Amino acid sequence: MLSKHSLTVKAMKASLEKTVEQTAAKHAASQGGLLPCLHEIQAKLGYIPNAHLENIATAFSLSTAEVHGVVSFYHDLRTSPSAPQSIQICCAEACQASGSRELEAGVAGVLGVEFDETHPTHNYRLERVYCLGNCACGPSIRINDDVYGRVDLESLPQLVTEAVQL
Ligand code: FES
Repeated sequence: MLSKHSLTVKAMKASLEKTVEQTAAKHAASQGGLLPCLHEIQAKLGYIPNAHLENIATAFSLSTAEVHGVVSFYHDLRTSPSAPQSIQICCAEACQASGSRELEAGVAGVLGVEFDETHPTHNYRLERVYCLGNCACGPSIRINDDVYGRVDLESLPQLVTEAVQL
């Protein structure tokens, strides 16, 4: 007999699969529909489940490898749920002109996590982004929903300590 928990997990998986299939079916007939489809799935689920790339591929008459290639090419698309907390470093031109390269080069050492990885104990993910709309005050970073300007390697640890729930 299945436990209540396993029934819930089974229902969640079925719901997730249904969302993926319905969204893929909606976009499959449109030329260039794959990218809007992937964005819509991510908007609905928070990520594009690896286990369902095959369903998407089938809907678009593509191979799973082709869909995976598109997902992995675009920085904003992810195949696993994002960590609850994120630290994003702007690496776009205006921020580079005001010193973000130094921040980008040193941030992994300061925070103890590489880009595109989640810290093993502090549950935050470090990411590169390309413009946070705060170009005049670069180097800019975003911690969760808040954007900070004129950040450097010296001010970063204090900022993270205050803004991230460790
Ligand atoms: S370039 Fe960094 S916020 Fe726009």
